[in-house]
Amino acid sequence: LQEIGLEKIRNSKDIQELEKVRVNIVGKKGQLTEILHSMKDVSKEERPKIGQQVNKLRDIFQKELEETKQSLLQVALNKRLEGEKIDVTLPGRRIMAGAKHPINIILDDLEAFFIGMGYQVVQGPEIETDHYCFEMMNLPKNHPARDMQETFYIDEENLLRTQTSGDQARVLEVHDFSKGPLKMVGPGKVYRRDDDDATHSHQFQQMEGLVVDKNVTMSDLKGTLELIAKHEFGADRKTRLRPSYFPFTEPSVEMDVSCFNCNGTGCGICKNTGWIEVLGAGMVHPNVLKNAGIDPEVYGGFAFGVGLDRFAILKYGVSDIRDFYTNDIRFLSQFRKEE
Ligand code: PHE
Repeated sequence: LQEIGLEKIRNSKDIQELEKVRVNIVGKKGQLTEILHSMKDVSKEERPKIGQQVNKLRDIFQKELEETKQSLLQVALNKRLEGEKIDVTLPGRRIMAGAKHPINIILDDLEAFFIGMGYQVVQGPEIETDHYCFEMMNLPKNHPARDMQETFYIDEENLLRTQTSGDQARVLEVHDFSKGPLKMVGPGKVYRRDDDDATHSHQFQQMEGLVVDKNVTMSDLKGTLELIAKHEFGADRKTRLRPSYFPFTEPSVEMDVSCFNCNGTGCGICKNTGWIEVLGAGMVHPNVLKNAGIDPEVYGGFAFGVGLDRFAILKYGVSDIRDFYTNDIRFLSQFRKEE
């Protein structure tokens, strides 16, 4: 029995098999226990001898069981460690790092630029009311200039804002002039019912600007716009203002900068004119001030609206505005170095 038992124990291939063997030999119904149970058939003289032998045998088995168990556990552990071994010579997995969106690069840069000049940054709602987007901006219902901006209406009163100019009205209404002049920029997304193509997107981004104080003049506007142009497109850019029309400014202008590609001598980018249009602006219309409860005889100001997409297109030479909105990592990762 000792030989067979030990053999079975040693030959156990894993913990489960060893447990079966254990139960079979020393368990409650195991072979050894059976021998003890059958002692009643043995003579009195023989009993202690056999008892001793059985106990000795059990000790031997227990010892062997324990040793085998330990070595099986060790084998299992080694096997697991082997399986989980990390090969430090394998090349690492590349993590696709994000990059700041080109429009956000320009937006953050411009914001910092204006904050440096004492402007506050405001953020109006993308779902704007007809009241702020148009009425307050001197664009009453049925005004023909409403056609300039194809509008996504949500209902009679609510719409997806077509311009950030509503921010002007919102800030004018609450500004406390006893605390100082009003200087703000309002960046954000705007929407127009355009068919998307290389130069149109139904969603794009603007940055509104507004300065109102006593004695603000057109040359303040021109100086500010020139600063923006040089900051954004290079110190040697020339600027020029062309007359234009916006219902909320009078007079209204559009600003061109000298072409940064050919330095004004004429090329494909500027269509051989030497100039590139970059933004719209003007002196705040008296009606806009009046609508907000401000006396246009005392206060005046200027406003401008920057198309951030247009800035980005010009600055980075992007040929299709849709590239800004399709989130193609190959396009976006090109701007990593710009941050
Ligand atoms: N809101 C005008 C537009 O979207 C831009 C603009 C803003 C013009 C402020 C003048 C003053 O085209």
